[in-house]
Amino acid sequence: MSKGKLEKFAEMETFSNVFQYPYSVIDNKPFTMRGQWRNDYFHNDNPIVLELGCGKGEYTVELAKLYPNTNFIGVDIKGARMWKGAKMALEKGLKNVAFLRTNIEIIDRFFAPNEVQGLWLTFSDPQMKNVHKRLTSTFFLERYRRFLQNNGVVHLKTDSNFLFTYTQHVVAVNKLNLLFSTDDLYHTSGIDEETATILAIQTYYESMWIARGLNIRYMKFALPHEGTLVEPDVEIPLDEYRSYHRNKRSSLDARK
Ligand SMILES: C[S@@+](CC[C@H](N)C(=O)[O-])C[C@H]1O[C@@H](n2cnc3c(N)ncnc32)[C@H](O)[C@@H]1O
Repeated sequence: MSKGKLEKFAEMETFSNVFQYPYSVIDNKPFTMRGQWRNDYFHNDNPIVLELGCGKGEYTVELAKLYPNTNFIGVDIKGARMWKGAKMALEKGLKNVAFLRTNIEIIDRFFAPNEVQGLWLTFSDPQMKNVHKRLTSTFFLERYRRFLQNNGVVHLKTDSNFLFTYTQHVVAVNKLNLLFSTDDLYHTSGIDEETATILAIQTYYESMWIARGLNIRYMKFALPHEGTLVEPDVEIPLDEYRSYHRNKRSSLDARK
């Protein structure tokens, strides 16, 4: 492990806005803030919005600056990435930001029913071979709705045609309420100014995909509490740039 990473891990232990509960910890160290994030950490009654797979936490930090009356929590398993967002939030004195380092598979252990208002999925790995790791699969949507308010909004921003198309099928087959969708965000007209400001926030991965000339896709849909969710039974073309260049890394350095 690089020295930089070790230093970041050590510093993260001292950050008041970071909670570290990977699989290896959660069974030995009970998490006591489930249902109590607002009382015990944020000290307000404002809504909570999560960024899942937040990486360096660009959406978490930038949304927190735009919306001081909403609480934002970035979730990821990779501590060295999260360090950047957590450090920035501390430096800027953002009291409405927290980071949770854990596996999203067990996300419902950290939030009580109705505790969360909405979710952002930013450039999630499309997981083309493994539906159970795909963050918009019904496996994950079932977990999200255990703590999301009824009809809480799920935002998906992605370069991946595979993940975008798959999620469109999930929405269609389950008759979820699709609130907005574009497969070419930066060439779509008629987006209101507030939404355009939010969608202009760029993550680390997004900037690399844009540099490679890829379209950015965005959709948002409402996730209701009721109804059985079913997986779509469809064949979706794979993203060739991922399948063919996985071992070459090209200009995308996923190690950072
Ligand atoms: C492609 S990166 C995108 C990071 C960031 N949102 C961005 O746009 O720059 C996907 C992130 O999701 C995280 N991730 C994927 N699956 C996860 C899981 N099951 N639990 C926790 N983190 C996960 C990875 O660690 C990684 O940081």
